[in-house]
Amino acid sequence: MTARFRFGDSLKLIKNIKTTGTITPSSKVLIKHLLRPIDFEKARCIVELGPGNGCVTQSILGRMRSDCELICLELDGEFAKRLQSLNDPRLHVYNACASSIRSILDDLHISEVDHVVSSLPLALIDDEIVQDILANVGSNLRDGGRFLQYQYSLANYGDVKPLFKDVKLHFTLRNMPPAFVYECVK
Ligand SMILES: C[S@@+](CC[C@H](N)C(=O)[O-])C[C@H]1O[C@@H](n2cnc3c(N)ncnc32)[C@H](O)[C@@H]1O
Repeated sequence: MTARFRFGDSLKLIKNIKTTGTITPSSKVLIKHLLRPIDFEKARCIVELGPGNGCVTQSILGRMRSDCELICLELDGEFAKRLQSLNDPRLHVYNACASSIRSILDDLHISEVDHVVSSLPLALIDDEIVQDILANVGSNLRDGGRFLQYQYSLANYGDVKPLFKDVKLHFTLRNMPPAFVYECVK
C-alpha cells in the first residue's frame, strides 16, 4: 500500500513550511531507509510523530502485523482528519503535539512502545519543546527499541546523541531535499 501523491499536499507543506519543514512528501527511498531497522514480525506498538499526509503511515500499516498498533500524533488538524479517514482498526490518530506521548499512551493503557518513527522538523521547533519531545520518546520506548528520525541537516544530532545507547546515521540523496536518517537504539 502506498500513499498517492497529491499536488495539494505540496502546496499545503509549502504554505505551512514553519511547521512542516519541507516542500514535498518523503520519497519511497527515504521511507524505506527510515523503516529498515524495524522488525515488523516482532513489533506490537509503534508511534509515529508528524505523519503529515500519511506517506510514512501507509508504509508502516502495509508492513505491520494485524495485532500491531500504530499511534499517530499530528499537530495539523486537516492532516489528522485525513489520517483518521484511513479507517484502519490498528491506527489511532491524535490531533496533538508530539510532546503529549505519555498522556496518549495512558489513554490507550499502553506502558511502553517498540519503536518511534518521526518526520518532525526538529530544527524548526523551539528547543524547549524538542527537549520535551525527545525526553518523552526516550522514557516511553522499550529497551532495545528504535527511535527513527529523518532530518535535512545534522542540527539536532547533539540533542539526540546523549539520550540513546547508540545512534547510527544514514544518508540518502534520493529525496527532495537529500536527508539523514538517525537510527537511535535505547
Ligand atoms: C515534513 S512533514 C512530514 C510529512 C510526512 N510524514 C513525510 O515524511 O512526508 C512534518 C509534519 O510534522 C507535523 N508537526 C510539526 N510539529 C509537530 C509537533 N510538535 N507535534 C506533532 N506534529 C508536528 C507537521 O504538521 C507536519 O505534518
